[in-house]
Amino acid sequence: MIPWWKRTTTYQIYPRSFVDSNGDGIGDLPGVISRLDYLRDLGVETLWLSPFFESPQVDFGYDIRDHFAVAPEYGTLDDCRCLVREVHARGMKIVFDMVLNHTSDQHPWFVESRRSRDSAMRHHYIWRDGRKGGGKAPPNNWRSMLGGSGWRHDPSTDQWYFASFLGFQPDLNYRNPAVKAAMLGVVRHWLEEGVDGLRLDIFNAIFKDASFADNPFSWRAVPSESNPHGFFQHHRHTIDHPDTIAFARELRAVVDAVPGPPRFLVGEVFGDAHTLRQYCGEAAEGLHLVFLFETLRMGFSGRAVRRLVEDFERGFPEPYTPTYVFGNHDRPRSIHRLAAHPAKAKLLATLQLTVRGVPFIYYGEEIGMDNHDLPLHEGLDPVAGRYGFIPQWLVGRFRKRGILLNRDECRTPMQWDDGPNAGFAPAGVTPWLPVHPRSAVINVAAQDGDPESLLRCYRSLLALRRAEPALQAGALEWLDALGLPEDVVAYRRSLGEGPDRRVVDVLLNFSKRRIPFDVPSPAGRRLFSNRRGETISAPASHVLGEYEGVVLL
Ligand code: GLC
Repeated sequence: MIPWWKRTTTYQIYPRSFVDSNGDGIGDLPGVISRLDYLRDLGVETLWLSPFFESPQVDFGYDIRDHFAVAPEYGTLDDCRCLVREVHARGMKIVFDMVLNHTSDQHPWFVESRRSRDSAMRHHYIWRDGRKGGGKAPPNNWRSMLGGSGWRHDPSTDQWYFASFLGFQPDLNYRNPAVKAAMLGVVRHWLEEGVDGLRLDIFNAIFKDASFADNPFSWRAVPSESNPHGFFQHHRHTIDHPDTIAFARELRAVVDAVPGPPRFLVGEVFGDAHTLRQYCGEAAEGLHLVFLFETLRMGFSGRAVRRLVEDFERGFPEPYTPTYVFGNHDRPRSIHRLAAHPAKAKLLATLQLTVRGVPFIYYGEEIGMDNHDLPLHEGLDPVAGRYGFIPQWLVGRFRKRGILLNRDECRTPMQWDDGPNAGFAPAGVTPWLPVHPRSAVINVAAQDGDPESLLRCYRSLLALRRAEPALQAGALEWLDALGLPEDVVAYRRSLGEGPDRRVVDVLLNFSKRRIPFDVPSPAGRRLFSNRRGETISAPASHVLGEYEGVVLL
């Protein structure tokens, strides 16, 4: 029996930007509930919601003040329970976002911890004396993930605390058993509430080395998807620590022990396939899934796609499962990298929904929502504040390299229709972020009625995948015997043996050239094309059009 999480399709909702049901300009949980039918009809099976817990919202929920309460701008605990129920009633699953690494600096634990060196909660966080003349320099050279020292000086007790991300997000001290027990309690609590899985925020940073030794020098300036080291440092003692990898296994055991149906954990970690696989355990007894972010920088060519899929297949063979992510709330939107070309977006969707792995679709990706080019210095995103010194003309260059200095750009309101506020919020309300100027053209309502639209393509592909077990869980092998040019990525998905064996072939043309091919056996096949959006009986030979992807069933 193949576990559900290996076969599922996932859709990420940034609750603040999905639907504002009460007219305060901020999306909320009742808003999400009101659109669950849309998501069911789209055909996605699992919803992941970015955090909606009680928070000062400096990092819009990734700075939690109370792990057990819902932030009032998003609704109530009852709304949260209703959401879980309603998702399940539609046969879907729901994943919450767990920020285990840090809390808000306004969390009662940190307020208490920073009160005095003798506080009973002092060691809930990572406090150290400074070094050099009177402790005026940070305890060591450890950098934050955003560059600069990760240490913050706290004048009232004249010590420094460590924050892997931003200063208002102090890292919890997992070497303190009380902290670990409390956070595992949070995990259990939400699973017992019926949540089907957890997305683990910056999981790679949980444990820091107990020696507090300096990190070694590195020539790397800018971190990337395949290598998180940078800012002239190899983050040996702060990232991918062996204790963090061991913690992945411990967490898995905790999750497996919670009564009820199987759940899953997906870790936000960064690095090459080999490093990331370690989080899943040597015997697949760690995290169920990890994000593989190299797709976020993948070139749009047959060669680049082939290389990446090969890499993921090598790194995550059965029983491991790769993930396919083309956008999220931190990165430039997928269509931006494709120069807003809908045919290319359809091809990428065809890859994402037919390749072996769990797809993660970011809200709005299904209609080709683009980044909103917003001025860096006006960014509400704290990362924009952190990099506010960078001139605006450089922002686009970073964006091209897959780095968003102002993450507001990819978090603008969902575009539902061409009405006021694109249907995100009632007329007369000012949404928390401006609606994209092209929302009158790019929206759900417009694409719903257009059989050629990207939305309809996603819907067809998701339906195809739901109906075909080989697409959900089949092995992948390359169709090199077809002798197609490098521009075409061609693979077979197959599941089962003997008469029950199911076979699906996928051919993706990453070029503008028309490329003929002979339909591989078995005979009597049906053909789905991402250009036509429908299934026809396959002719013996066929031509792949510009950016066309076909699925032979
Ligand atoms: C993760 C989140 C990001 C957040 C950061 C700190 O990278 O995806 O949005 O700002 O962690 O929690």
